[in-house]
Amino acid sequence: MQSERGITIETKRLNGNCQEDIVIAAEILKNGGLAAIPTETVYGLAADATNGAAVEQIFKAKGRPQDNPLIVHIASYEQLEQLVSEIPERAKRLMETFWPGPLTVILPKSQLVSDQVSAGLSTVAVRFPSHPVACAIIQTAGVPLAAPSANVSGSPSPTTAAHVLHDLEGKIDAVVDGGSCTVGLESTVITLAEETPVLLRPGAVTLEQLQGVLGTVKMADAVLHQLKQDEIAASPGMKYKHYAPKAKLILLEGSDAAFFHYVNTHAEEGIAALCYDGQENSLHVPAVTYGAKDCPQEQAHELFDALRKLDDLNCTLVYAKCPKSEGFSLAVYNRMIRAAGFEVRKLD
Ligand code: TXA
Ligand code: MG
Repeated sequence: MQSERGITIETKRLNGNCQEDIVIAAEILKNGGLAAIPTETVYGLAADATNGAAVEQIFKAKGRPQDNPLIVHIASYEQLEQLVSEIPERAKRLMETFWPGPLTVILPKSQLVSDQVSAGLSTVAVRFPSHPVACAIIQTAGVPLAAPSANVSGSPSPTTAAHVLHDLEGKIDAVVDGGSCTVGLESTVITLAEETPVLLRPGAVTLEQLQGVLGTVKMADAVLHQLKQDEIAASPGMKYKHYAPKAKLILLEGSDAAFFHYVNTHAEEGIAALCYDGQENSLHVPAVTYGAKDCPQEQAHELFDALRKLDDLNCTLVYAKCPKSEGFSLAVYNRMIRAAGFEVRKLD
């Protein structure tokens, strides 16, 4: 079954709570097809990582640049041993602490990992998800699964099966519905391929937690700052535009009072706001909310859905309060500044 992607194919809706549907998804994957699967972070667009032709179809379906490598998902430590050339002591400590879970570890790759998966790099990104449906599908398929987030390249990662269908219906063989993803942001990515570990993408496993296990962990410049035109990204994904709603998004840095004042004095046709729960009552423009002000976990859970809802408002410019950039909030901040194309205005 090798349908030419781009041509409309029937996308099966499968139920993650149904054992028969898990078997159907695993069969699709074993036969070289594409299935979107739920994980605790976001939905992934999976293919058999050992099948180069299947992996190539992921890039086509998403419109993903060829030089952006994929994460390989495993459900056992035997699968890890096949993918990497060595498992250093510090990697073992990380895995014991955070796996299965929302952490991706980059290690030198084995010869089994194809150039399609690693985009020609000498390393491979590996993750052992904790979501029972993801684990059941990997185990039933019996192969590691290469899976980027199951969105069209550039748009927010999907946290529900409906988001996946919105982006990829007709381009993939199936989506397995496992409800809404608990974390809501993609996994933390750390590379152990260099002497000092480097955080490449913040997520639910925080920099502080990683430092607690490993001691020194550097943060890649691209976590907080826009890469310059000719700068080489430690992680190729960091150089691409991400998460952007159709409207222009601008982050406002300052107190709540300054935020309300700024938005309300700019309340023209086409302006909207992205704010925390309850703040919409203080604003004179249409607003989408994304969780409680003091709960970054809730904000992470709701952010990508909120960015997609902004598209439905048909606005041209959205103002959002700039989140903090420490602890768990760093992950939310990292996605927000990318969605805003790094445009932050200081208010007070
Ligand atoms: O939570 C997640 O990580 C989700 C779920 C499906 O597992 N996956 C995900 O994949 O977010 P993706 O492809 O959207 O993001 C993977 C990021 C990209 O920025 C990519 O460049 C980077 O990881 N990456 C993958 N392999 C790498 C490698 N060998 N070296 C450096 N960066 C790598
Ligand atoms: Mg992605």
